[in-house]
Amino acid sequence: MSKRYFHYQSLEELEQEIRQLNLQIPLETNIDRLKAYLGRPVKIGPFTAGNSMAIHPMEGCDGTPIGQPDELVFRRYERFARGGAKLLWFEATAVVSEGRANPRQLLINDFNAKALEMLLNRTRLAHREVYGTSSDLVEVLQSASAIPF
Ligand SMILES: Cc1cc2nc3c(=O)[nH]c(=O)nc-3n(C[C@H](O)[C@H](O)[C@H](O)COP(=O)(O)O)c2cc1C
Repeated sequence: MSKRYFHYQSLEELEQEIRQLNLQIPLETNIDRLKAYLGRPVKIGPFTAGNSMAIHPMEGCDGTPIGQPDELVFRRYERFARGGAKLLWFEATAVVSEGRANPRQLLINDFNAKALEMLLNRTRLAHREVYGTSSDLVEVLQSASAIPF
């Protein structure tokens, strides 16, 4: 599959490409309506995320060799937390060391629990600094382990 990068400089350029590709993608250009859509709270089980924006799980492959969050991991998640999305979904994190998909993958175990708790607390703090509260921020960690055949 060939790789393509987006270089749109304006909404018109995006609209033009949508027309050229004969796609049916409606665009919302009214900022108040857009805010109303994205601002809708979402119920997730027993929790409620304060709006409809989510950070998908995205592995950065930049944990420490033993699977704790490293400087770049803290930086990334604090920036996500400041972004405003109310669902912050932490990346695929191995549950056993032999199941790590790469040598820098995060690993959750008793030894690493404190470091991961610190990551969680720092994202809550970063979110509170910008939005005054983190009570409507839902944070999920994706557990994943590759099983060698
Ligand atoms: C660098 C990178 C890392 C990702 N890591 C994960 C991951 O840890 N777990 C997961 O379920 N999806 C992962 N994804 C998939 C994304 O969460 C997302 O579903 C995907 O990029 C498609 O989103 P899009 O349709 O908005 O492009 C990753 C994607 C990227 C680009």
